Amino acid sequence: MSEKISSHIIGLGYYAPENIIDNSYFSQFMDTSDQWIQERTGIQERRFVNKGQGPSDIAIPAVKIALKNANLSVNDIDFIIFSTSTPDYYIPGSGCLIQEKMNFPNIGALDIRCACTGFIYALSIADQYIKTKTYKNVLVISSEVQSTSMDLSNNGRDTAVIFADGAAAAILTANFDGEGILSTHLHTQGKYAKELWVESPSSAMSPKLDKNIIKSGKHFLKMNGREVFKHAVKRFPEVILEALNHNKLNIKDIDLLIPHQANIRISKMVQKKLELNDNQVFSNIHKYGNTTSASIPIALCEAINQKQLSKGDILVLAGFGSGFSWGSAILKW
Ligand code: COA
Repeated sequence: MSEKISSHIIGLGYYAPENIIDNSYFSQFMDTSDQWIQERTGIQERRFVNKGQGPSDIAIPAVKIALKNANLSVNDIDFIIFSTSTPDYYIPGSGCLIQEKMNFPNIGALDIRCACTGFIYALSIADQYIKTKTYKNVLVISSEVQSTSMDLSNNGRDTAVIFADGAAAAILTANFDGEGILSTHLHTQGKYAKELWVESPSSAMSPKLDKNIIKSGKHFLKMNGREVFKHAVKRFPEVILEALNHNKLNIKDIDLLIPHQANIRISKMVQKKLELNDNQVFSNIHKYGNTTSASIPIALCEAINQKQLSKGDILVLAGFGSGFSWGSAILKW
């Protein structure tokens, strides 16, 4: 009889840049208020990088902690998956940069750009490599520097107050006791690509970037907040139920749901739709804002630090974001 392999997280780490930005910071650039931001988003403060730091830089402390927790060294890692929608450069990927900066051996490094669903996509890829016995230890990194894509004028006030910087890392390895990832479910709907996007610099434009593009603000992140909200509150419950059904589990089986920290109102609506209690849903958006693909693993690290997960618990992770893309992962902790 062949042994059943699953992929389990054996080490986690996160890094929140030291630069704490509270809501009052934005009032010097745009018409906004602490009250508006807290009421509409739940965010009280967030972290921004120091000038010159990219996602590969802020990922380093997160990876170091994850390696320490897993009791592994860089030489034990077989493959890197780097999830970011804000890469250091267009070319090459941030995975190559961290391979060099942390002296990993010449292993493969794959960048993925699945926005706020990136960590779920990355887990699903790691899971396939581990289950097929291609790699033993896979490092997943989610790291984002959104602060440099924000329009700090009134035109950008709906995004600038929401998106923030942060990094997290997870190390996955083969498990033979039925623990770890039970399933992943992934979706996209490119019809809505332009509802949350950065239009430029773009390879479809010639020149990629010029004064006019910068003047028109096409290099800033743009969001149709109402459209994003409408789809998010539909897709989160849908993809969570899809995952539960696949595993023959019920809502009451969820010990902890960690949704992508998009907006507290979205999370509250999802909680209400699924009739989950407050202890079943994790939230830390008030401290970090929306850190795109880093938000789920940062929240997972904090949930563990706060002892909200015990061995054998059913953990549900769910993401939604630009693309639109959405997905879920269920793990037996
Ligand atoms: N401060 C003060 N006013 C703001 C503001 C800010 N930071 N941002 C937008 N506004 C204004 C708008 O300009 C608008 O003004 P107007 O009525 O004079 O035109 C007013 O607030 C209402 O705008 P609206 O877009 O209808 O507000 P909203 O209730 O939909 O809230 C969001 C805006 C962005 C908070 C909300 O749409 C949202 O949460 N969307 C989902 C965002 C999200 O989660 N994104 C991440 C997905 S991964």
